[in-house]
Amino acid sequence: MTTPQLPGYEVAPWELRWRWLDLDALRRTESTFALSNGHIGFRGSFEEGEPSGLPGTYLNGFYERRPLPYAEAGYGYPEDGQTVVNVTDGKIIRLLVEDEPVDMRYGSAPRHERVLDFRSGTLRRHTEWVSPTGRRVRITSERLVSFTQRAIAAIHYEVEPLDGQAQLVVQSELLANEPIEREGGDPRVAAVLEGALVSDFAVGEGNRAVLGHHTRKSGLRMAAAMDHEVDAPGPIWTENRTEEDLARLSVATEVPRGHKLALTKYVAYGWSSQRSPQALRAQVEAALAGARQSGWRGLLDEQRAYLDDFWEAADVEIDGDAELQQAVRFALFHVLQAGARGETRAIPAKGLTGPGYDGHAFWDTETFVLPLLTYTVPDAARSALQWRHSTLDKARNRAAQLGQAGAAFPWRSINGEECSGYWPAGTAAFHVNADVADATARYLAATGDKEFEASTGLELLVETARLWTSLGHHDTHGRFRIDGVTGPDEYTAVVDNNVFTNLMAQRNLHEAAAHCELRPEVARELGVDEEETARWRDAADRMMVPYDEMLEVHPQSERFTRHAQWDFANTPPKNYPLLLHYPYFDLYRKQVVKQADLVLAMWLRGDAFTPEQKARNMAYYEALTVRDSSLSSCVQAVLNAEVGHLELAYDYLGEAALADLHDIYQNVHQGLHIAALSGAWIAAVAGFGGMRDHGGTLSFAPRLPPELSRIAFRICFNDSRICVTIRRDEAIYALLDGPSLHTSHHGKPIVLTQGQPITLPIPPPPQNPPPRQPVGRAPARRRLQPAPGG
Ligand code: BGC
Repeated sequence: MTTPQLPGYEVAPWELRWRWLDLDALRRTESTFALSNGHIGFRGSFEEGEPSGLPGTYLNGFYERRPLPYAEAGYGYPEDGQTVVNVTDGKIIRLLVEDEPVDMRYGSAPRHERVLDFRSGTLRRHTEWVSPTGRRVRITSERLVSFTQRAIAAIHYEVEPLDGQAQLVVQSELLANEPIEREGGDPRVAAVLEGALVSDFAVGEGNRAVLGHHTRKSGLRMAAAMDHEVDAPGPIWTENRTEEDLARLSVATEVPRGHKLALTKYVAYGWSSQRSPQALRAQVEAALAGARQSGWRGLLDEQRAYLDDFWEAADVEIDGDAELQQAVRFALFHVLQAGARGETRAIPAKGLTGPGYDGHAFWDTETFVLPLLTYTVPDAARSALQWRHSTLDKARNRAAQLGQAGAAFPWRSINGEECSGYWPAGTAAFHVNADVADATARYLAATGDKEFEASTGLELLVETARLWTSLGHHDTHGRFRIDGVTGPDEYTAVVDNNVFTNLMAQRNLHEAAAHCELRPEVARELGVDEEETARWRDAADRMMVPYDEMLEVHPQSERFTRHAQWDFANTPPKNYPLLLHYPYFDLYRKQVVKQADLVLAMWLRGDAFTPEQKARNMAYYEALTVRDSSLSSCVQAVLNAEVGHLELAYDYLGEAALADLHDIYQNVHQGLHIAALSGAWIAAVAGFGGMRDHGGTLSFAPRLPPELSRIAFRICFNDSRICVTIRRDEAIYALLDGPSLHTSHHGKPIVLTQGQPITLPIPPPPQNPPPRQPVGRAPARRRLQPAPGG
C-alpha cells in the first residue's frame, strides 16, 4: 500500500501546523483542521468563506430525510435515507482592505500558517496577505468550538495594516444554504442536498443576529445566533442586515499602521424536533449571553482546563518516532472532539468533520471508538450508549419487521432508523447488535456504574440477547447456528456461522444472563425469567464455531476456506478499493477480505482461541486481507503484536494513526476516519500494551517494536487510574490514584498499590514465520533512510 508523502504538516508533539498556502490541499485540511465538541462541528475553512473546498458546519443529529429509491424493491427495505445537513455557517468573517476583498486565490501570501493546537483546543491562523494592487495586511485568528459550553463556538479575529493606514471593512455572517460541490460515483460520499433549510425567522439588532430555519422533510428546527465585540483604534461604522438566509454585521474603520481591528465573534446553535422557533431563539440567545459573560479569555481558559484533564487521563507518549507521536495525539484529540459532548446523540463515522457516509453512525462507535472512551473519558462512552438506548423502540420495531424478537439496531443511521439500502452489507450485518452489547458490558466492567446498569445497560444486553435466540437455531446435533448474516468483512456476505458474529453473540448471551442474575428485580421488569436466561446460556454454550481441520485454521464463516482465492497477482493497484472496480457477486464468492473479521474476533474474543490458532489464523488471513476499510489496520496491529510480528504491528499502527494525515484512503476531504483514529490508540494500547479485558478483568502483555524506545499510556478502571510504561526490556506499572488494582503482566498476576510502581521484565516475543500480505497491500514502511555511506 502506498502512502503519498504530502508536503505540508510539520511534525510537532502537541500541534498540527501547515505552513504556506496550498489551495489544492484546502479540502483535506478543512477536515484535519476541523473543530468539534461532538455537538457542533466546524470544518477548517477560511474565515473569508472563499476559497473553500467543502464548506461544512454540522450539528449532531440534524439531518434531512431523502428518498431511497430501489430498482427492485423488497419487503423491509428502508424507504427513507438520512443525510447530515450543512447548516447555517457561523464561521464567516469577510474582509475588505481599502476596496479589495481578501481572497487567497488572488494577490500573494508571503506568510501563511494554520495550527491546530491539541492543548488549547483551538485553530490558529496567521496570514500576511498582499493584495493584487500591493496593499499588505496581517490577519490572525483563533477559533474554538467549546467543550465546556456545548452550544458555543467563538472566533477572535484581528487585522493589522502593514504598509500604512488602511480602511478595513469586516463582514461577519451567518449564512444558510451555502452551495456545495457535487461529487458522484462513490457510495462513501454524501448525497448533496440543495436548499435543505427553510427560513423561520431572521432578526438582527446591534451587534447581534439570529436566524431560524427548519428542514423540509425531517421536521427538525434550528437556530444560529451571533454576537460580537469590536475593538478598533478609531471610530467605527456598523451596519446589521438580515435576510432569510443571511445575517451580516459590517464594521468599517480606518486603521493606522501598527494598530489593529479586533473582532470577537460568539456563535450559538440550538436544534430540536420538538421546540418552537421562539424557544430555539431564546435558547441560542441564552447560550450567547453565557458566552459573553465568560468572554473570549474565559472560553479559552475553560477549553484549556478541559483538555488538561483529558490529556492527564488519556495521553499516549511515544518515544522514537516523532511523527507517530504527533499522529497519535492528533487521533486522540479528534476522537475526543467526536465524542466529548455528543450527549445522547450518535458518534458518526466521520465525527462532525465532514459529510462522508451522509453523517451516519455505524458499529464503528461501539467497536472502535468506545474502547478508547471507556478507558479514558467514561462519561462520553456512557452518553454514546445512551444514544443507542434512546433508539431502542426503533430497533424493536425493526426486529419485529424482520420477524425477530428483541432489538435489531440499524447498520447505518443518524436517528436510529435503518438507512442502509443495501441489505447484504447492511441489515444482514447483525453483529452490530453484539457490538453494542460488547461495548455495554465493557463499560459496566470498567466503571461499575450501577445506575447505568439498571437504567440502560441491562435493557441493551437483554434486547440484543433476545435477537440472537430468535435469529439462530439449534441444529440436529444441538449446535446453535446463526445463518444468513454478514460479518465485518463486507467482501463476504450473507453467510452461515460467521465466527466473529457467533463469538460476539456468545458473549452477548452470557453477559445478558450474568447481569440479569446480578439485577433480578430489573430483569423481572424487562420480562426476563429463569427459563429465558437458561435458553441464552444454552445457546451460548452450544454456539457453533466452525474450524477447518485440514488447514488447521478457523474459516471466517462456514465454507469460506473452500472458496476460490482472489487473483491478487492480476489485480493492479489502481483497482483498489475493490468495491469500486469489481462486482460484489465476484468478491462474495472468493477468498478476499476487505477488513479484519476473524482477526477482529481474535482480539475481542481472544479468550476463545489458543496461541497456536492465533498464529496460524494470522498467517492465513494476512495473506487475504486488502484493507479496503480503514477499520482494519489497527486490528491487524493488535494481533500481529500478540503473535510476535512487532515490526509489522508498528507499520499497521502507523497506517491507522496516519490514515488522515497522509490521506491514505484519498477521501479525507469527506471527513476524518474516526474509527481509524481510535484505532491508533487501540494499536498502541491493545497492540503494544497487550491490554485485554476478557471477562471484565484487565491484563497486559506489553512489548515494543524495535523502532520505538518507549510507550507510556494511561487507563481509568473503576476508580483507579494507572500508567503503564513500556521500555525495551521492562514494563513499569504505576497506580496514579484510586484503590489498588488487580491485573496481570504476561499472565503473571500483579496488584498495583499507590506509591509502589512495579517493574517487570518483558519476555521475548513468540517466534512465528512472518506473514505475507496480498501483492501490493503490505502496510507502508516508515523507516528513516540511513545516511549515505552510514
Ligand atoms: C466499512 C464498515 C464501516 C463503514 C463506516 C465501511 O467501509 O466496511 O465496516 O462501518 O465503512 O466506517
